[in-house]
Amino acid sequence: MRDILVPGFTCQPAGAEACAVMAALHDAAFTAAESWSAGALASLMVVPGTIAILAVLDGQTEPLPAGFILARIVHDEAEILTIAVHPRHRRQGIGLALLQAATQMCEGRGVAQMFLEVSVRNTSAAALYASSGFVPVGLRRDYYCDGSDARVLVKAIAA
Ligand SMILES: CC(C)(COP(=O)(O)OP(=O)(O)OC[C@H]1O[C@@H](n2cnc3c(N)ncnc32)[C@H](O)[C@@H]1OP(=O)(O)O)[C@@H](O)C(=O)NCCC(=O)NCCS
Repeated sequence: MRDILVPGFTCQPAGAEACAVMAALHDAAFTAAESWSAGALASLMVVPGTIAILAVLDGQTEPLPAGFILARIVHDEAEILTIAVHPRHRRQGIGLALLQAATQMCEGRGVAQMFLEVSVRNTSAAALYASSGFVPVGLRRDYYCDGSDARVLVKAIAA
C-alpha cells in the first residue's frame, strides 16, 4: 500500500490484534446501539478477504488511532463494512484518506467495484462518500435498527 499523504497521519494495514482498539474507536464514533464489540470485529476479521486499515497519528501519544476502515474483498467486488473517525479528529481528511487507502488495496487485488451501505440520515458519511466518487445504485428499506433506509453506493475501481 502506498502512503496516503495526509499531514499528521499514516494509514497502516492492521490484523486481528487491532480488534480492541477498533472496537474502542467504533464505540467513540457511533451510538451505543450501533457500535461493534471487539468480539464482533474479531469474527469479521477471520473471514477471508477482510482488510482493516488504521489511521495512526504521527508520533502518537493518544491510546487510540484516529480512525479505521474495514472492508471485505470477494472476487472482483469489495464492500466497505464500516469506517469510523474519532470525533476529535474529524474534518481533517482522515475518512477520505482511509477510503483512498482501501481503494488502493482493492486495486492491487483485482477489484472492479466497491460497494457500501449508508443510512439516508447519515449526511456526513454521505458527503464523504460522494467526495470519494461513490454513486447511489439502490435503496434498502428499514435497513437500520432506527428504522432508517440504507442507500447502496458503488464506486468503480481502476483495473
Ligand atoms: C463519516 C466520517 C467517517 C467522516 O470522517 P472525517 O475524517 O471527518 O471525513 P473527512 O475529513 O475525510 O471528510 C472528507 C469530506 O467528506 C465530507 N464530510 C465529512 N464530514 C462531513 C460533515 N460532518 N458534514 C458535511 N460534509 C462532511 C466533506 O466533503 C469533507 O471534505 P471537507 O472537509 O474538505 O469539506 C466520520 O464523520 C465518522 O466517523 N462518523 C461516524 C461513523 C459513521 O457514520 N461512519 C459511516 C457509516 S456508513
